[in-house]
Amino acid sequence: MRQILFMDTTLRDGEQSAGVNLNPQEKLQIARQLERLGVNVMEAGFAAASEGDFQSVRDIARIVQNASVMSLARAKESDIRTAYEALKDAVAPRLHVFIATSDIHMKHKLRMTREEVLDTVRSTVALSKSLFPVVQFSAEDATRTDYAFLAQVVEEAIRCGADVINIPDTVGYTNPQEYYQLFQYLKNHVPSYDKAIFSCHCHDDLGMAVANSLAAIESGIGQVEGTINGIGERAGNAALEEIAVALHIRKDHYQADTSIHLKEIKATSALVSRLTGMVVPKNKAVVGANAFAHESGIHQDGVLKEASTYEIISPELVGEEANKLVLGKHSGRHAFMDRMQELGYQLSEEERDRAFRSFKQLADRKKEVTEEDLHALILGEAAAH
Ligand code: KIV
Ligand code: ZN
Repeated sequence: MRQILFMDTTLRDGEQSAGVNLNPQEKLQIARQLERLGVNVMEAGFAAASEGDFQSVRDIARIVQNASVMSLARAKESDIRTAYEALKDAVAPRLHVFIATSDIHMKHKLRMTREEVLDTVRSTVALSKSLFPVVQFSAEDATRTDYAFLAQVVEEAIRCGADVINIPDTVGYTNPQEYYQLFQYLKNHVPSYDKAIFSCHCHDDLGMAVANSLAAIESGIGQVEGTINGIGERAGNAALEEIAVALHIRKDHYQADTSIHLKEIKATSALVSRLTGMVVPKNKAVVGANAFAHESGIHQDGVLKEASTYEIISPELVGEEANKLVLGKHSGRHAFMDRMQELGYQLSEEERDRAFRSFKQLADRKKEVTEEDLHALILGEAAAH
């Protein structure tokens, strides 16, 4: 089994979600939980972005013992030196230096030629490597970059000392087949490909961030990047908890291990949601409130007989207490009787029939029938007969 490294960027790209602003205490709380979750690298922030960001990166670098702590830096000497100051007390510091490589970004944003970008990559990666034991280089907007130019940039970055090469899908533009092929292309056109760890970083603009990340893993890369609950700029980043669980549940397919403690997923998701104010959608995979809830009679009957009929992930695996059989209009007799027994009611055959009929009538009017409703229903039945 090969090992896939997890690089969490909840505290940097995740915090770039519109409306999110974490204070230094909140960032420390999340960093501690990410350490418990078992991520290999955490991007603590962008040290040169503000005084607050600098302090957060420095504080996190000082407390984290079991993960590498990283800061983002533009390909500028001042950013790199500021990141160095913020990270110098870390047990395992890492610098993340990036520059855009697509024609759109070079022309309109950077106003630089390809040759100028190549020169900047050479000088800033070399400077980074003179200060940091591990340097990650990202070619921003890689998936919209001319492939031959991207290969040239990546080769230069590795030659100048980059240990990790990130190929971001900055605007969530690619699809799984295309992203897979891009990594194959780089494998075949970057002479120093084997000297670096390749990494994927996907955004979710077209809803494919997790699928694209898994395709990159299939193409042989060694590191995956994302955020908890998939928060991040615009439609967000790839949800790391979904990738970790997919690799675990489909180990037969991916043949890869991770250091993620899956049981910490629920707690991590809840903490990030609470501190960022980004509500987790009910139907979100792995961590949504309905991820382990069953409502239809056929499903409830199946789950009561054998959970694996309709559950490919056991709730306990990700730190969720148990599954939930929601009583509603789609529920069947099996789940209803099961709940009656749980609530301590011993009903005769006739009482059961009557109670089930009343339950169905109530469920037609109400989205979810609660325990209080069931007690009231039995009391009403008893009074009427
Ligand atoms: O999405 C992106 O391209 C980024 C880079 C800074 C790596 O977040
Ligand atoms: Zn990003």
